[in-house]
Amino acid sequence: MKRRPLIAGNWKMYLTLDEAVHLARAVASTCGQCTDRDVMIAPPFTALAAVATAMKGLSLQVGAQNVAWEKEGAYTGEISPIMLKDLGVDMAIIGHSERRRIFGEDNIMINRRLCAALDAGITPILCIGETLEEREAGATLAVLERQLREGMTNVHQQQAARVVLAYEPVWAIGTGRTASPQQAQEVHALIRARFARDSADVAAGLRILYGGSVKANNAAELFGQADIDGGLIGGASLVAADFLAICAAA
Ligand code: PGA
Repeated sequence: MKRRPLIAGNWKMYLTLDEAVHLARAVASTCGQCTDRDVMIAPPFTALAAVATAMKGLSLQVGAQNVAWEKEGAYTGEISPIMLKDLGVDMAIIGHSERRRIFGEDNIMINRRLCAALDAGITPILCIGETLEEREAGATLAVLERQLREGMTNVHQQQAARVVLAYEPVWAIGTGRTASPQQAQEVHALIRARFARDSADVAAGLRILYGGSVKANNAAELFGQADIDGGLIGGASLVAADFLAICAAA
């Protein structure tokens, strides 16, 4: 099955409102009418409404960097899926390793966020990945298996087909140290095989992005692997020319 590549830019806690709209427009000037791949940008929440408005009518998708699990309520600092839908947000990054590590989000919380996104019609990008210690201890697969099992609890087959996965080895994020294409492919293939145990169709259609120091000079080789369906890009998504070069490599 031919899977449609997805390149997602995670802008993290960078850019003021004007800078964000400017960058979005620069990306859209090349990617705004792409038909053979999906391109998504995830600005900080403060710029989400303005970027979503500026991208209206273009094929560029707009994502949030997280989503709350309730529709509304006394949850100081959280943004609900209903609020995101209201802005025209298409996707949400969930379970990013920075959320797990710095803000203490666990698999149960991440699962609730994922289910809420699915219920609201937002495509979740579920991030999973092992730390360097876990990899060196030979625990990579056990860690990923647990993140997937707990993160995907109560997600039935039909919904699973709408989930996007991002394999992001924690040791490769923002470090300039990329997993080799072979290392990444090996893990991606194992993730796909794991989904195939439940449904061959879901596994065949599942988009698995690689994330962690993807740059213009390594993107083509990574995206050229059989089970790598695009990327989740941090640092390099903040420079239009770099991000566009990565999009072109998919
Ligand atoms: P990086 O970040 O590309 O800067 O390594 C990736 C991510 O955090 O998703």
